[in-house]
Amino acid sequence: MHSSLSPSSVTDILEVDDLHVDFELPRGRLHAVRGASFSLGSGESLGIVGESGSGKSVTSRAIMGLLPATTARVKARTLRYGQHDLLDAPERVMRRLRGGEIAMIYQDPMRALNPIMRVGDQVAEAIRAHEPSLGRKELSTRVVGLLDAVRIPDANKRIRLYPHQLSGGMRQRIVIAMALAANPSILIADEPTTSLDVTVQAEILDLLGDLQEERGMGMILVTHDLGVAAWHTNRIMVMYAGRGVEHATTADLFEDMRMPYTRALFDSIPRVDMPPGSLLKSVEGRPVDPSNPPPGCAFRERCHLAVEICGTTAPPRRQVGSHWWDCWDDQEEKSVK
Ligand SMILES: Nc1ncnc2c1ncn2[C@@H]1O[C@H](COP(=O)(O)OP(=O)(O)OP(=O)(O)O)[C@@H](O)[C@H]1O
Ligand SMILES: [Mg+2]
Repeated sequence: MHSSLSPSSVTDILEVDDLHVDFELPRGRLHAVRGASFSLGSGESLGIVGESGSGKSVTSRAIMGLLPATTARVKARTLRYGQHDLLDAPERVMRRLRGGEIAMIYQDPMRALNPIMRVGDQVAEAIRAHEPSLGRKELSTRVVGLLDAVRIPDANKRIRLYPHQLSGGMRQRIVIAMALAANPSILIADEPTTSLDVTVQAEILDLLGDLQEERGMGMILVTHDLGVAAWHTNRIMVMYAGRGVEHATTADLFEDMRMPYTRALFDSIPRVDMPPGSLLKSVEGRPVDPSNPPPGCAFRERCHLAVEICGTTAPPRRQVGSHWWDCWDDQEEKSVK
């Protein structure tokens, strides 16, 4: 469905069409992802944006084949990387793709590194996992090369340090180096800067953007902050309550936000002109309960434009070129479907 919307569809390396993920839990079924569709061309950067619980990490983990087999039910019309059907690929193939072709920077930075192992050894291990036959000398050259690539100065000295001896920004650079160890075609970065302060956040986002361009990688940047997604992405998909609700090129989206939730997210972006110590605005109202999503539009309770039909019937997908959004509100004539 969505691939026909993308001008780069001929070179799409990743295609996700109508992804659904349910968790079967003792207290009932939880609908974490209820229809996410997007594609990624090689060398392209896609932002996935939505508030906490909207299904961003579950979507990323579904691509990586990393959801718990006992509780997660994953369905999709298409979940494809290159020629591989990710829903059907044997674990042996998934193990090779994971880290090798599709690498992920996980949301929890503390869990990504082993606190009692020197960072150089951790990077070496990440390289060796995909190239077990490398000699010692070659391996250490590669480690230093990767640390240089993520702009860690004095790499030769820093490889001997433990994670706690590095700043948060330097630790995140090590995590990025490990993700790049096997030269992946796709890098999924799940909230890569959330735990960092604003200046370091900007440095890491710049680094990711540069690496993505230099290496011609596809990148998926997952974040709750539309302001973060504005950096170095070509396109953005906004998720709400497990669904993609708006998608456009980054330039088009900031020019013309159509789905009221996207505008609410935009209004909650922290600004430099806010007085110090002021509370960050979040989108008003509460997210829906994923075990009991309402009929119609899931955002309607929080939407100032909601009308009766929003409560009964799922909104239509409106589309202008590659820009699509799901909403009953038909603001302008140029909306076509
Ligand atoms: N392993 C799991 N078992 C059961 N429920 C889960 C599991 N992982 C996630 N969920 C639930 O799925 C829904 C989507 O979670 P997800 O982690 O994808 O949100 P997110 O958009 O990444 O949010 P955040 O910004 O907080 O990281 C949430 O309701 C969450 O509690
Ligand atoms: Mg998450």
